[in-house]
Amino acid sequence: MRGIILAGGNGTRLAPMTSVVSKQLLPVYGKPMIYYPLSVLLSVGITDILVIARPQDLPLFERLLGDGSRFGACFDYAEQETPRGLADALIVGREHVGDDDVALILGDNIFHGHDFGSIVADAIKNNVGATLFAYEVSDPERYGVVRVDRFGTLLDVVEKPSNPPSNLAITGFYLFDNDALDVAAGLSPSPRGELEITDVIKHFVDRGLARAVPLTDGFVWLDAGTPDSYVDACNYVQAIETRQGRMIACPEEVAFVKGLTGEDQLLAAAAEFGSSEYGRYLTRLAGRFIERSAA
Ligand code: TTP
Repeated sequence: MRGIILAGGNGTRLAPMTSVVSKQLLPVYGKPMIYYPLSVLLSVGITDILVIARPQDLPLFERLLGDGSRFGACFDYAEQETPRGLADALIVGREHVGDDDVALILGDNIFHGHDFGSIVADAIKNNVGATLFAYEVSDPERYGVVRVDRFGTLLDVVEKPSNPPSNLAITGFYLFDNDALDVAAGLSPSPRGELEITDVIKHFVDRGLARAVPLTDGFVWLDAGTPDSYVDACNYVQAIETRQGRMIACPEEVAFVKGLTGEDQLLAAAAEFGSSEYGRYLTRLAGRFIERSAA
């Protein structure tokens, strides 16, 4: 399965923070926002990853993340000239995905919860058509909302409904089989002028090939798109990391734990980030590993 991180958009709700800096490069507590979705993909072993961003921002993402080898992965980059909608990722990313299936994740979404890796790995294994991850929210009218049967089959999906059929919002992480590329290519823009991801999902709903996996039981899903949700995300990460002494979404750690990189790469990253909290965290991680292997 190929991965796409959608890191374009204008981030208008965060202006003027986003006037000259892409939203997905802003820090969420101690690390750039894009590290969070990147870590999700790496944690399930998706290593062929395309980053899509605005032309003016793309070189910065390339400088930040490189060719992916430091994470034992392979990164490509593609421009999205204007924010034509989430489904446009499946058009811009067509060559990158090729004949494969695709995991699309939004660059401003943060997922954190016990066993997320195995929930996603299971979903990838069982994906036929489309798989979404659904999250119960108190304000469903702000999101894409799904109606599901008791087996998790999607019966309906509606974008920002004034009369929501449920409290289950679609999160910004989607698994699609390869047909989604043709479906996206055939879409017309919605009344708001965008290629809607819900229209891609509807194609699979109509064929009984869309599923929603609920993220429940203390799971946390945040997007960092407004000043309030941005600060909530920063505060959440700070609270958990400080309390537990473990970082959320440290891609060097994820890659190392997954066996995508070795000790040398971990030590090199630790040296690169030096005396920053991030660098010291990687140094402690490498130290613990060396101690364990010596024991
Ligand atoms: P949004 O939050 O819907 O859009 P935005 O980031 O441009 O913010 P605003 O509404 O404040 O202007 O986008 C969700 C994510 O998807 C975000 O990471 C940006 C990304 N995105 C693209 O990369 N391309 C697009 O065409 C759109 C619509 C979004």
